[in-house]
Amino acid sequence: MSGDRGAVELEGVTKRFGSMVAVDSVNLSVKPGEFLSLLGPSGCGKTTTLRMLAGFEQPDSGFIRISGEYVQGVPPYKRDVNTVFQHYALFPHMTVAENVAYGLRQKGVPKSEIAAKVAEALDMVQMSKLAERKPRQMSGGQQQRVAVARALVNRPSVLLLDEPLGALDRKLREEMQIELKLLQSRLGITFIFVTHDQEEAMSMSDRIAIMLDGHIEQLGEPETVYEHPSSAFVAGFIGRNNFWQGVATEHGIRADDGTEFVASRPEEDVPNGQPALAAVRPECINLSAERPADSNNVTAGVVAGVSHFGDVLQYVVSVKDRDLLVLTPRAHAARFQQDDNVFCHWSADDVYLFSARQADIVMTDGDEEIHDN
Ligand SMILES: Nc1ncnc2c1ncn2[C@@H]1O[C@H](COP(=O)(O)OP(=O)(O)O)[C@@H](O)[C@H]1O
Ligand SMILES: [Mg+2]
Repeated sequence: MSGDRGAVELEGVTKRFGSMVAVDSVNLSVKPGEFLSLLGPSGCGKTTTLRMLAGFEQPDSGFIRISGEYVQGVPPYKRDVNTVFQHYALFPHMTVAENVAYGLRQKGVPKSEIAAKVAEALDMVQMSKLAERKPRQMSGGQQQRVAVARALVNRPSVLLLDEPLGALDRKLREEMQIELKLLQSRLGITFIFVTHDQEEAMSMSDRIAIMLDGHIEQLGEPETVYEHPSSAFVAGFIGRNNFWQGVATEHGIRADDGTEFVASRPEEDVPNGQPALAAVRPECINLSAERPADSNNVTAGVVAGVSHFGDVLQYVVSVKDRDLLVLTPRAHAARFQQDDNVFCHWSADDVYLFSARQADIVMTDGDEEIHDN
């Protein structure tokens, strides 16, 4: 078993609530010491998956192994895992040190050992100095650090984290992302990290499992899911994309707005004449004042807006009856202003082609939805 310490395996795991299938025959193998994120929109089954690993829910079918052991019927406190929730739920009347010690005391760990373990856990999250504070005397980020210390004090092989940074403001969240990632690589503990924030998953994970409607849509390293999304859903959920709906042609797609695009890297084999979606990332679209020499994948438009983001310029370009999002490095020679006439063009290598069966669920980064039909 020792070779499997920290490994987590799900085989055909299904969970229903009444007639609704929350988790649908999920297979997943997490390696010891891996940082794996479950990423997906609200309601896709992330929390339910985590709760089955923790032992708070039982699968209706399928098997779970943690550190090489089948955990069917094993109660939460006997599993080699611990959980950090979004709402840290520290005991308000206890100090930081007492909060961290609580689980050890319940387990009957000798007093002499408790102090040393608590000190070590607080040191891991750099909270030793605040050991005597009460939760209400600390910021949200500090409270969440204590929650992490409390979960780590038993030295589980696997830490389950359910949107642990979701309640923090952006700046603090970014700091905590770096801290958690460092902590994880230092301790070598397996992290299964639930988030609906694709940037968070991209920046922290060794691999990401992108979930949709209870199943894993794609599993891979951040670069892979970004570069080779297996479906239009993933292409829209990871990073940003411009989508066109249309019909597959021999060389690419004939979009519903009449434009024809050439695609040299179909991600899915879409038969000619079938409904298709083309996706082009905003950073893959070039803008120019003159019509480019290559006549493929060119469309004329008008700059509707320019925004500055650090070293990147973001353009919104009105093209026919829709807007395109275009990102260019600030250092780029050509700069455009609102109302400028421009040509948008892109390489056939940068056109992803998908079958359009999922057109209705294509999303950009969470807050905005594109309904192509
Ligand atoms: N205890 C429950 N009873 C009934 N339905 C539930 C329960 N828990 C979760 N669900 C449903 O299961 C689906 C998945 O939920 P959840 O795992 O919480 O998703 P996520 O964490 O990805 O937002 C949702 O449709 C949710 O409403
Ligand atoms: Mg959830």
